[in-house]
Amino acid sequence: MDAATVERLKSAMRYETERTAPPEGFPKLPVIPGGRYTDPAFHELEHRYMWRRSWLYACHADEIPDPGSFYLFKRTGSPILVVRGKDGVVRAFYNTCRHRGAPLVKECKGKVEGLVCGYHGWTYGLDGRLMNLRDKRDFVELDMSEYPLVPVRCESLGNWIFVNEDPDAQPLLEHLGVIPEYLEEIQPHQVRFVDRRSYKVQCNVKVLLDAFLEVYHLKSIHQNTVDRFLDHRGTNITLWPRGHSLMLTPNRRPDWQDPGTRGMRRIETASEITNSNNPSFMFYPNLVTPVDASGNPFLLFWPTGPREMEIEVCWFAPDWGGGEISPLWATRISNFERILEEDTQFAPQIQESVESTAFRGITLNYQERRIYHWHQELDRRIGVERIPEHLRVQQVIGAPWISG
Ligand code: FES
Ligand SMILES: [Fe+2]
Repeated sequence: MDAATVERLKSAMRYETERTAPPEGFPKLPVIPGGRYTDPAFHELEHRYMWRRSWLYACHADEIPDPGSFYLFKRTGSPILVVRGKDGVVRAFYNTCRHRGAPLVKECKGKVEGLVCGYHGWTYGLDGRLMNLRDKRDFVELDMSEYPLVPVRCESLGNWIFVNEDPDAQPLLEHLGVIPEYLEEIQPHQVRFVDRRSYKVQCNVKVLLDAFLEVYHLKSIHQNTVDRFLDHRGTNITLWPRGHSLMLTPNRRPDWQDPGTRGMRRIETASEITNSNNPSFMFYPNLVTPVDASGNPFLLFWPTGPREMEIEVCWFAPDWGGGEISPLWATRISNFERILEEDTQFAPQIQESVESTAFRGITLNYQERRIYHWHQELDRRIGVERIPEHLRVQQVIGAPWISG
């Protein structure tokens, strides 16, 4: 991060601390219709036009280290196989045999020589080409070159691998805009995989996701944890095109360091901004990452139904040069789980309450504007005209409030 950006962000946080109202001209945010959190038809629109056409994080390069190593991504309803080829290139295909649709791999991850369908033995290369089929005499007219596995877009930011079911999607790095530039300081090409785990929560995916887009709740939900070291009143928010955003919250004391990260290897290129504050990035639609010099989690929000979701947490650390990872990571993860529990504790009741006839919709203040920004992008993705009028949000946050 260059010196000018550091200065700009520092003064932006000072401004936030001192302001007595939202900046002049910032639009009043209309109520977000509650049906967006409950209606199965809206859930369907979201699934079809947004989730299945988005760049979604699949796995880390360390999880598929060798030729033939694979990871099975099953978050959109069509299982996708992410596999490293003999040439070292990572590719993605639907895990669906071209003969009669059986899966090529059944485990979540593993390593294979080639891709042999377990049903009738059609064999594919790691690059997806159909190489062989049993009893060719009964398929004399079949041109094998016309039956490769169906590819899925697969691109990376450093060691982080993403997939997108939309063949015409904008390239990942273009889609992410300035985010890769900001993250350069934590060296996405060096960062190593530590852990992955998920937690089921009985609420619409957006109920929980919203909680990670604001710090307005710190004083109530995280009174004895996060609120003790973060000063939510100094939070500065940057909204970027395509729904992405950054929330930068100052530490109460600039020299404060999370006790849970003491003794951990720290990345030397981390900026003053990262070292003295809590920068949390949102990659639209479902990846939140609070970055830190000692490593960062990817918090991934996955819908599993209109009223249920899973939060998946993947942890990454600066390269520790081989061997066992520091045992401090176990404590770090359990400390985080305590905070996560604070965030999830009321989510099922919030869902119930949002479904109540008393609920009039979501009323947001200025510091919660990332949530509104997220919803505006959702409507653009779905296509406003496809959304029943009573479920739409108005596009009120316009160009002057979006950076870049
Ligand atoms: S379904 Fe794969 S070989 Fe028959
Ligand atoms: Fe929280």
